[in-house]
Amino acid sequence: MDEILKRYNDRSYLIEAIHDILDKKDEKGLGDEEIKKIAKHFKISVAEVLGVLTFYSMLPVKLKVKHTIRVCVSPACYIKGSRELVEFLKSYLGCDENNVSRDGRFLIEEVECLGLCDVAPAVMIDDRIVVNLDREKLKRVIEEVR
Ligand code: FES
Repeated sequence: MDEILKRYNDRSYLIEAIHDILDKKDEKGLGDEEIKKIAKHFKISVAEVLGVLTFYSMLPVKLKVKHTIRVCVSPACYIKGSRELVEFLKSYLGCDENNVSRDGRFLIEEVECLGLCDVAPAVMIDDRIVVNLDREKLKRVIEEVR
């Protein structure tokens, strides 16, 4: 991996470097430490590397993010402010354009009805369901998960 990275010093070659690294590997995908090493080499954030890996879905990645936050944006949740919760999360976690948090630990996804309309707005964080949300409650849950 070090030999490959030496060939690419400019961040515009990030995708080429990732392709070359994956070509030389026996196992599929990039692990957490490899992603950190690539980020350090190109002097970019882990979230930026993850952003490229998640945008180009044909690039395998073993560990994209630690936690996925699925926010329901279907009508019952929408009416109860789920859109504002998404914007709050993006700002609170410092997400990039791929909705990956600045620290690379969280991915935000907007999803359809979770079947919890009577206790909207509803969010799933990994396999945990949280309902009747407002910003403060969501912030508390995020910090517990973190
Ligand atoms: S609309 Fe959000 S849970 Fe049904």
